[in-house]
Amino acid sequence: MYAIIQTNFNGIDALTIRTDYPKPAVTPNDVLIKMTVLPVVPTDWKRESNPNATTEQLADLPRIIGVGGVGTIVAVGDNRDPQLLNQRVLVMNPSGSYSEYVLSENPNFIFPLPNIVTNESAAALTAGPGTALTLKHEIDQSTARHIVITGANSVIGLYLLQMLQTDSRQIWPIVSPNSQTYFQQQMPTIKAYTAEELPTIEADSLIIDIAGSVPLLDQLTQYFPHNQIVSIVLMHADFNQPIKFVHEDFNADDYRHFIQQLVTGELVAPIDRTFPITAIKTAQHYAQDTHSRGRVLVTF
Ligand SMILES: NC(=O)c1ccc[n+]([C@@H]2O[C@H](COP(=O)([O-])OP(=O)(O)OC[C@H]3O[C@@H](n4cnc5c(N)ncnc54)[C@H](OP(=O)(O)O)[C@@H]3O)[C@@H](O)[C@H]2O)c1
Repeated sequence: MYAIIQTNFNGIDALTIRTDYPKPAVTPNDVLIKMTVLPVVPTDWKRESNPNATTEQLADLPRIIGVGGVGTIVAVGDNRDPQLLNQRVLVMNPSGSYSEYVLSENPNFIFPLPNIVTNESAAALTAGPGTALTLKHEIDQSTARHIVITGANSVIGLYLLQMLQTDSRQIWPIVSPNSQTYFQQQMPTIKAYTAEELPTIEADSLIIDIAGSVPLLDQLTQYFPHNQIVSIVLMHADFNQPIKFVHEDFNADDYRHFIQQLVTGELVAPIDRTFPITAIKTAQHYAQDTHSRGRVLVTF
């Protein structure tokens, strides 16, 4: 079967596309999922070049890349619910999802999909709204009157802004000049700012950092001098003031809720282009090298 394997830390171009990878055998505790659509997330290419890119220990190579995707259950182990057979599911598989078939043992890591939810929308829930919700909790706990969001046009930024629609505080979505038009198309009722357009705000502010750019944060702290910074990107003290790094704490109930929100339209998944699995390197380069226009996907 097809599998995308990382064997070193030499980056995207060093990935190996295997066509002869052994198909896994189902044990009583597993379901076997034939994968259909997978997301390309920044964590993928970061892990492919840096063994310390994330807090998880993923330095053991070789490994199948990816953390999740969408597929159909084609075999069910004796200890699992037989009704799962033929169900379309979103699967979280932190030990690797970029293979034609994925074995899933943890019932909390599979999410049956209602007919109305497309494979693409469900796949774009991976590494997206869960992190946005973590940021929303930080915002909810803050008393700051101004909320500044860097990388507002990012996939996580657009999920977060959808979640903040009832927050009555002043929100300052920050985008690069190249992404302003795209942001306004996605969020016509919220004005986005480039860093150069900002006034100086003396009141307390919370800077939510999704872009992970130190020069941008430098600039923003001039306009928002009384600030606290929460980042999902900058992990270390590589800035001249404290930054609180936060990461998603996976909660299966949240994902069931996101899927319901896709059904009702309360949540819309930002989606860009889809590439065939054979073009995985092109897909990762495209996602890394171009401005964010939604989640890039690959299909088997
Ligand atoms: N801590 C966690 O739990 C966690 C979980 C998932 C993801 N992440 C991280 O969160 C980040 C966002 O993920 P995503 O999937 O939403 O990514 P994405 O859609 O690719 O968006 C990246 C965003 O960063 C902006 N950006 C990048 N470099 C910039 C720079 N030098 N100056 C200004 N803006 C810059 C981009 O602006 P343009 O589009 O205009 O270029 C874009 O808005 C990634 O770094 C990812 O690794 C963290």
